Amino acid sequence: MKSQHCNLLLLRLLGGGDQRCARMRKLVPFDLVVVLVFVLGSIVSPFSMVAEGAHFRFVPRSPRNLAENSYNHAVPAYLAPPLQFGFYHKTCPQFPEIVKRVVTKEFELNPTNAAPQLRLFFHDCFVQGCDASVLLNSTKANQAEKGASNNFSLGNFFVIDEVKEQLEKVCPGVVSCADILALVAVYSIKAAGGPLYEIELGRRDSLTSYAPSAETYLPASSLNVSGLLEDLQTVGLDEVDLVALSGAHTIGQAHCSSIINRLYPHVDSQYPKYYSKQLVANCTDNGYLKLPNYDNNTQFFNDPVTPLQFDNQYFKNLKENLGLFTTDESLFNDERTKKLVETFASNQDAFFKQFGISLRKMGKIGVLTGTQGQIRNQCWVRNSHNVDPALDPTSLDFVS
Ligand code: HEM
Repeated sequence: MKSQHCNLLLLRLLGGGDQRCARMRKLVPFDLVVVLVFVLGSIVSPFSMVAEGAHFRFVPRSPRNLAENSYNHAVPAYLAPPLQFGFYHKTCPQFPEIVKRVVTKEFELNPTNAAPQLRLFFHDCFVQGCDASVLLNSTKANQAEKGASNNFSLGNFFVIDEVKEQLEKVCPGVVSCADILALVAVYSIKAAGGPLYEIELGRRDSLTSYAPSAETYLPASSLNVSGLLEDLQTVGLDEVDLVALSGAHTIGQAHCSSIINRLYPHVDSQYPKYYSKQLVANCTDNGYLKLPNYDNNTQFFNDPVTPLQFDNQYFKNLKENLGLFTTDESLFNDERTKKLVETFASNQDAFFKQFGISLRKMGKIGVLTGTQGQIRNQCWVRNSHNVDPALDPTSLDFVS
C-alpha cells in the first residue's frame, strides 16, 4: 500500500487539490520544475554526470547507458532480442567462410596481423558496447573513438573493410560491422593457433562514437588488480574474466608508452635485469637514453617467448616476472588472481575453455539488437538515410 500512497501523492503534486497535499503543493512551481529539467536533461543528453571527488564531470554515456544509441526509440534495451548462434545461417550463410578466407590470407601474409584484429573487438566492446563504434571515423565536429589517445595504436581496420566489401556483394545490408568485429576476432585466434570459438551473433551498429568515452572506459596499462576489477565490474566482468582475457596478450605487440610507467623515472625491479635492459634499449633513441622523451616507434612482443602463438605461454611468463604491463605483472602478485594464473600456466585447456567463455561474455556488453542501431553499408561511416538527425546532427559530416 505504500507505493499506492506515493503514486497518489505524486498525482496530487501534479495538480490535485487534496488537503493532505496542500503543504507539498507549495513546492511545485520551483522545485518540481528543477527536478523535471534535471531528469529530462539527463535522459536526453548524450553525456552522463560522473562524480569525481567533490566535483562533477560530464562524460559521454557508458556502455551501460545506451538508450541514445538506439535508432528505434520505440524499443527499449530490455525488450531487444538476445544474440544467437547461427544468426546468419539463412540470411548470409557465406559470412563465416568469407571471414575465414580474409583472416587466413592476411595471417599468411604477416602473422602479426592476428593480434590487432583481436584487440579491435576488445576496444569496441568496452566503449559503448560491442556496436562497432570503434570503427567510425571522426567528423569535422566530432572526434570518434578512433581518435582517442589510448586508441593510437589500433590497427587492421582494413581487414574489417575487406570482409564488409565482400559481404556486401553476396548479402547486401545484412551483416553488421559489430558482428564482423566479433567473427574476425574469433578467426584471428584460430589463425594464431588457438581454438575456433563459437560466438553468438546478431549485433547491430551504433550511430555514435566519442573519443572521450574511449579515454574514460578503456583500462590503462598502469592499473593494479583493484583498478582493473573496478573497470571490469562496470561492464559485468569479474576476476576470472580478467585473468582469462588478459591471456590475449599471448600474442601482439606494444609501444614504449604502454610501459613507460615501469621504466621511468626508475626501472621496475620486478622485471628480470636482462629483460628490462632490452626494454630500455627499445625505448631509447639512437643508443642515447632519452627517457622520458622515449622513442615510441619501436614495438616489442607482449609474449617474448612464443609471440605469434595463441597459447598459455603468457601465464608461464607472468610466473617469471615477464609480464609486460603493470596490469599483466599485477595478476601474479595479487592473491585474488594468482591462483588462476597458476592454473592457466599449467593447464592450457583450462585457459582455452575459460577464454572462450569470457570472450563470449565480453561480446555481449551493451549490444544493440533487433531494430536498434543500424546495419552500416560501410563500417567507417554510418548510413545517412536512416540517421535520426535528433541524435547528433553535428556528426553527419564524416571525414575519411
Ligand atoms: C585488462 C585490461 C587490458 C589492458 C590494460 C590492456 C592494455 C594493452 C596495451 C597497453 C597494449 C599495447 C598497446 C600499444 O602499446 O600499442 C595492448 C595490446 C594488446 N591487447 Fe590488451 N589490454 C587489456 C585487455 C585486453 C583484452 C581483453 C584483449 C582481447 C581480448 C586484449 C588484446 C590485446 C592484443 C591482442 C594486443 C596486441 C595488439 C597488437 O599487436 O597490435 N587486451 N593491450
